[in-house]
Amino acid sequence: MAEELQKWVLMVTAQTPTNIAVIKYWGKRDETLILPVNDSISVTLDPEHLCTTTTVSVSPAFDQDRMWLNGKEISLSGGRFQSCLREIRSRATDVHDKEKGIKITKKDWEKLNVHIASYNNFPTAAGLASSAAGFACLVFALAKLMNAKEDHSQLSAIARRGSGSACRSLYGGFVKWIMGKDEKGTDSLAVQLADEKHWDELVIVIAVVSSQQKETSSTTGMRDTVETSLLLQHRAKEVVPKRILKMEEAIKNRDFASFAQLACTDSNQFHAVCLDTCPPIFYMNDTSHRIISLVEKWNRAAGTPQVAYTFDAGPNAVLIARNRETAALLVQKLLFCFPPKSDADLNSFVLGDKSILKDAG
Ligand code: ADP
Ligand code: DP6
Ligand code: CO
Repeated sequence: MAEELQKWVLMVTAQTPTNIAVIKYWGKRDETLILPVNDSISVTLDPEHLCTTTTVSVSPAFDQDRMWLNGKEISLSGGRFQSCLREIRSRATDVHDKEKGIKITKKDWEKLNVHIASYNNFPTAAGLASSAAGFACLVFALAKLMNAKEDHSQLSAIARRGSGSACRSLYGGFVKWIMGKDEKGTDSLAVQLADEKHWDELVIVIAVVSSQQKETSSTTGMRDTVETSLLLQHRAKEVVPKRILKMEEAIKNRDFASFAQLACTDSNQFHAVCLDTCPPIFYMNDTSHRIISLVEKWNRAAGTPQVAYTFDAGPNAVLIARNRETAALLVQKLLFCFPPKSDADLNSFVLGDKSILKDAG
């Protein structure tokens, strides 16, 4: 790079949606490589609703790697950010931007620093999988910037090193994270089970019960569970492998009754495993429990499931309605049972302490 070219900046912006697991990942067999104790399956949300937007830039003027999350500078010193940066840098290839007259060789990438600015359009660290959208977007944007020619499945294995659930956000539709057998983690990656057009009558409604940051991060919570819960061993070895097969069938056949039964039971078992942890972890609150009761009563009265619920590591409800008519009824029921305390806008109302209701259909 010639001295007179030192003022340039090259930038890439990417947007990645979050994903919500319907068969949960909870527990690692290797903390550094982020290798899970079981397979998991998720639904990737529509990118216009819950997503991360990340801009990565490179310039010879940058004297160190730096990152801003939602406008605040955060440290990149953690092992997870370093793993993602290292893995993509090692795959960087020549970049030639003819318009700007910039040429970066594979060798140059070893010395160049990056600046990263990321923004989540939904609550961060509140149980709506910000780490999933965040690390998937970071890895995708870095790979584009550095011209790393890896396919989505290889990028998913790199995103996994940032946050386990992130490997599933590289694909749309229904996605499975295969736990893999290799202890180096080369076969622990995500595959798409069905694309976004498959089963598009489903509507996802997210009821944000609290947008506050959770007390126990997913990483800390699952570490404690692995160390102390006996129920987790039963879940990972006996329960989830069978459930994964049934869930794949339900998705393939668009069988809502099986899908709902499996998703709700798996969410409940994940929270039971959290209770079985020492000290116990409480991710759901009273409002979450009231939402479960509402859905359970409705499904029982209807004779067949109308809505599935699932809760990640936080109190917020992810409700999956079988079609648009049911989703409209669901929103009415939620508004009736949890009347809004403010009339900010149609998409947003108070439920418990703070809430945004989003129709991701
Ligand atoms: P969540 O339920 O939101 O996924 P986690 O406890 O799993 O909560 O992860 C939260 C952490 O994920 C944050 O503290 C931050 O380190 C990381 N994270 C969140 N959003 C982003 C982002 N856009 N880019 C990079 N990392 C992010
Ligand atoms: C409950 O992927 O956030 O959302 O790998 O430690 O970053 P780390 O954890 P994370 O855990 C997600 C747990 C979950 C279930 C799921 O997404 O499968
Ligand atoms: Co997370």
